[in-house]
Amino acid sequence: MRSIHYDTNRFKMLIVLVALIAGVFSLVYTQQLVGELAEREEQQIDIFAKAQTIVAATEDSISLNFLVNDILGQNFSIPVILTDEHHEPIEWRNVNVDEDSAKQQAQLRNYLQNMKAIYAPIKIEPIEGVVMFIYYQNSFLITQLRYFPYVQLLVFGMFSLLAYLVFSSSRRSEQNRVWVGLAKETAHQLGTPLSSLIAWIEYFKVEPQIDANIIEDLEKDVKRLETITARFSSIGSTPTLQDENPLLLVQDTVDYLSKRISKKVKIEVSYPKLETLPLVAVNKPLFEWIIENLCKNAVDAMAGKGNIKLEISVNKDRKQIQIDVSDDGKGIPPSQLKRVFKPGFTTKKRGWGLGLTLVKRIVENYHGGKIFVYKSELNVGTTFRILMPIK
Ligand SMILES: Nc1ncnc2c1ncn2[C@@H]1O[C@H](COP(=O)(O)OP(=O)(O)OP(=O)(O)O)[C@@H](O)[C@H]1O
Ligand SMILES: [Mg+2]
Repeated sequence: MRSIHYDTNRFKMLIVLVALIAGVFSLVYTQQLVGELAEREEQQIDIFAKAQTIVAATEDSISLNFLVNDILGQNFSIPVILTDEHHEPIEWRNVNVDEDSAKQQAQLRNYLQNMKAIYAPIKIEPIEGVVMFIYYQNSFLITQLRYFPYVQLLVFGMFSLLAYLVFSSSRRSEQNRVWVGLAKETAHQLGTPLSSLIAWIEYFKVEPQIDANIIEDLEKDVKRLETITARFSSIGSTPTLQDENPLLLVQDTVDYLSKRISKKVKIEVSYPKLETLPLVAVNKPLFEWIIENLCKNAVDAMAGKGNIKLEISVNKDRKQIQIDVSDDGKGIPPSQLKRVFKPGFTTKKRGWGLGLTLVKRIVENYHGGKIFVYKSELNVGTTFRILMPIK
């Protein structure tokens, strides 16, 4: 089995896996860091509380600023509020409050509430009989740090999504250009020898020595070449769509194919009453190409003999024509189901893995329809379903 996509998919999975591991690692690491820092802050508060007691015992006034600046240093950024025994704030540090006293009181109370929710206030007794409380919470740095890995993950996720979108759209448009360019060029190259062949046939027709049967065969071959050229030229430009009866198109293609495949493979077309079939806007050469490709794959899936069924029907809401192409061949293994439409995916010795890619392109890009594997069972068969919009 050959598939370039298999490798790229594995590569993508690997990238995602590495990113995930890096994300989890960063999360764990930061949490650990936060834990250590928080512990350090608790120790700082503890030292602060002890110092508070000692200083208060030796001096008559308790100055929070003095303590914070001189004992713990300028780096001390933990929000602290010193209260009296009734939990009324006396002094505070690293706390963001207004100068306006009315508002200030409310804000301080709010702080006390929040602080209490995280750490129980430390009770100190700097002087015999004087009870005070130290309220505190973690510094803003720690709070930020706690969210940091999530922010990091979010940024990383958004970046990957963007990269994926840019990457896949540029690759798709590049693929598009290659397809269209190649098809156009092929149609162009075939055009010249074809017109000269047609001229030769006209010339042979009036030559009595040349067998009429040979000329007839030649004409058929030229017709076929013309069809191929029309397909390539349609896919290489914006194809014109015309209202056609889907049954007639399917029948035409089946007639053509039946003559060219093993007699042991039967192709059957089923449809509702002819008059109930609405017309669909299709490009004839391209539509026939779809049916041809699906039938060829069906034949390949059989060991020389079997049945192919083409069932045409109209959806209940009459918005879509449904064409089911079923075979009783070897089926598609579930692990390959997702890849059959990918360019280059083939399980055949002489396959290019282009048939279904082309079919999908024609159905979806050129006709606004849908195609998918409706069902497939190993050694039972496969059904491809096409949905074409009715105007
Ligand atoms: N009806 C089917 N039954 C079982 N397998 C199928 C069927 N149709 C397609 N496949 C699987 O999907 C693969 C891709 O099909 P696709 O038509 O794109 O390429 P291919 O037939 O291998 O080569 P190419 O059409 O380019 O000559 C096939 O190789 C086959 O494994
Ligand atoms: Mg094929």
